[in-house]
Amino acid sequence: MKKVYVGMSADLIHPGHINIINEAQKLGEVTVGVLTDQAIASYKRLPFLSYEQRKGVVENIKGVSSVVPQETLDYRPNLQAYKPDIVVHGDDWKSGVQAKTRQQVIDTLAEWGGDLVEVTYTEGISSTQLHEGLKEVGTTPDIRLKRLRRLIDAKPIVRVLEAHTPLCGLIIEHANADVEGVKREFDAMWSSSLTDSTAKGKPDIEALDLTSRLQNINDTFEVTTKPLIYDADTGGIPEHFAFTVKSLERVGVSAVIIEDKVGLKKNSLFGNDVEQQQASIEEFCHKIAVGKNAQITDDFMVIARIESLILERGMDDAVERAKAYIAAGADGIMIHSREKSPAEILEFCAIYRALETQVPLVAVPSSYNSITDTELADAGVNVVIYANHMLRAAYPAMNDVAHSILEHGRSLECADKCMPIKGILDLIPGTR
Ligand code: SPV
Ligand code: MG
Repeated sequence: MKKVYVGMSADLIHPGHINIINEAQKLGEVTVGVLTDQAIASYKRLPFLSYEQRKGVVENIKGVSSVVPQETLDYRPNLQAYKPDIVVHGDDWKSGVQAKTRQQVIDTLAEWGGDLVEVTYTEGISSTQLHEGLKEVGTTPDIRLKRLRRLIDAKPIVRVLEAHTPLCGLIIEHANADVEGVKREFDAMWSSSLTDSTAKGKPDIEALDLTSRLQNINDTFEVTTKPLIYDADTGGIPEHFAFTVKSLERVGVSAVIIEDKVGLKKNSLFGNDVEQQQASIEEFCHKIAVGKNAQITDDFMVIARIESLILERGMDDAVERAKAYIAAGADGIMIHSREKSPAEILEFCAIYRALETQVPLVAVPSSYNSITDTELADAGVNVVIYANHMLRAAYPAMNDVAHSILEHGRSLECADKCMPIKGILDLIPGTR
């Protein structure tokens, strides 16, 4: 029997996959290399099903003898390990991001006289189409909640963008960019205290209540599938924070971030220009522990935000707090800075990466905006939050248009600043 190897993501099994396995089975004994979450997320979106779920499905397909993990998009490590006589793949990888992988497969097989057999691509059905369909169906609170941890495990950096309305959520859901053959998209939404408050015409001082913010999140969840991180300001008093955790978890929010401040909270980007007080390490550790104790699932994350650099308490204080908050049970650390340069954040990252116990690290480059997400990932940051950009983009545009209409007594002059009428009519499916 010849040894036949097939690599696949096998996220949503469709007739195209079955066709490939059928053809492979005619040639010999089939081993399927199921791509891990990391391998898939290296070039496209995270799969819908986890690796274990996908492995379980493929193992039960007729004609499959064994399943092994394929840890990289690059087939070479598995080919070297299993030395198959034949690799079977759809013929749709001759161009695009996988063309290089294809050539590597051909070259590696040549080392022991193996062959690549390409099966005609099954037209009319693809995982990409199925994924778009799934987005329309929606998701459940449980699946959405779990997704943030899966993303952190699978991706070098998780990209998060602020959503203060469901419409922002839809932009985050669908925006994507092809950067050198790798598909980039936002992985999650940020519910910002600053932009949620501002959108309601209120100051960012914990004045907007949880009910109002949750209503907005519920509306956003109705039309999106991506996970959400909630900015809970200081979290309030511990007894109230426990209820906040339960309420967020119930609707499917993945994580809450609380900052180590007490008293009347002001936005961090003011720093010491306004009166702000940092919590003691002991009292903040207690609040973290109360939050962790209140959650019901294993997946919800309580992330502790360190304000030491914001309040000019120094790097040593920031590091001491990181250690204490991790020991208190924090699932992640957010380090914040209001410097124009990323220098102090990079210094913190270097020290943090040497700590004995670490949890995922979150950065919010609002002021130090010259650094790229890839550079942050290289420094050891796991999650980057673009915390206020959607509202900061929308407000000046709306303000300009309002003034232009007043000035000119008509809307002709600002027409090119507005999307065409047809554009807005077509924006939301089902409007027509
Ligand atoms: C927010 O978005 O409300 C934040 C981040 O807390 S920042 O405004 O940068 O402090
Ligand atoms: Mg905030």
